[in-house]
Amino acid sequence: MNSNLRPENMARITTLELANAFIDEQVNLVREQVKDKKVLLALSGGVDSSVVAALLIKAIGKQLVCVHVNHGLMRKGESENVIEVFKNGLDANLIYVDATDRFLSKLEGVTDPEQKRKIIGGDFIEVFNEEARKLEGIEFLAQGTIYPDILESDGVKAHHNVGGLPEDMKFELVEPVRLLYKDEVRVVGKALGLPAEMVDRQPFPGPGLGVRCTGAITRDRLEALRESDAILREEFDNAGLTSKVWQFFTVVPDMRSTGVREGKRVWDWPVIIRAVNTVDAMSATVPEIDWAVLKKITDRILKEVKGVCRVLYDLSPKAPATIEWE
Ligand code: XMP
Repeated sequence: MNSNLRPENMARITTLELANAFIDEQVNLVREQVKDKKVLLALSGGVDSSVVAALLIKAIGKQLVCVHVNHGLMRKGESENVIEVFKNGLDANLIYVDATDRFLSKLEGVTDPEQKRKIIGGDFIEVFNEEARKLEGIEFLAQGTIYPDILESDGVKAHHNVGGLPEDMKFELVEPVRLLYKDEVRVVGKALGLPAEMVDRQPFPGPGLGVRCTGAITRDRLEALRESDAILREEFDNAGLTSKVWQFFTVVPDMRSTGVREGKRVWDWPVIIRAVNTVDAMSATVPEIDWAVLKKITDRILKEVKGVCRVLYDLSPKAPATIEWE
């Protein structure tokens, strides 16, 4: 039987009980596969890699080596959260690599969206490889491949960016959630005790804030993006919208407009709020957000975020607009 095909009679994991049975089974399978060897995992902090990390920590403890690469394009507090949950909470064997300077200098002056994506993806593989080479005795590579990845591609998770390992670094794969759908991965994550905000996290693109800081990324505009995004998240949370809106974030485009502050004209950026509802991200609608909520977010961004003089709400559905701006 092809172990990459979901058996027809496999029950959908919808309850913690079913998740616990799945976890017990996988813990045994992983122990049998790995024995006393070490396993490497690129831990982005996304749902899939986080659930795989927690599952493998349960199965093999410190034989799992997690590498978290911060490319400088993470949301506010995201890398800190990965360290808190895995290193402090689960006592993981976690290597944290702050590669912010390396990524941002490579991206300097690059305006083409595809080129930006290539640089971020390519450098991610390089940084990960460099860390992997420093380690000894690794024989396995764990990946958060899930069933839709197998159905839609060749099974290599493109946005995890570890599919491009060089020939001399080909490890045997450990992919414990490869037969699960996303909703099942979330239930398994909950059963493993991961925090709800990590397990229910909305999708976040591999190139991170890079695709929301349009055109050539600069550190000051990236900072405005990160801060405005954090305010949006906080206020959506306060308004009870986090679980009701599928994906939401801010964008800071590479343009300025005139504003006025303390009686003087300024030449500042706009912040665009993007919020969408969708089933499969192929098409999307824009939710009607309460005016008072939008106003509160606007007031806070204009007051708290440096270099911003306007806030806009993107009303465009997909199609014709995509969800992301790049
Ligand atoms: P678009 O912008 O194409 O986005 O309407 C659809 C969904 O995909 C996410 N997205 C990405 N995810 N790497 C990813 O892992 C990417 O390069 C990427 N680009 C877009 C986007 O956030 C949305 O949920």
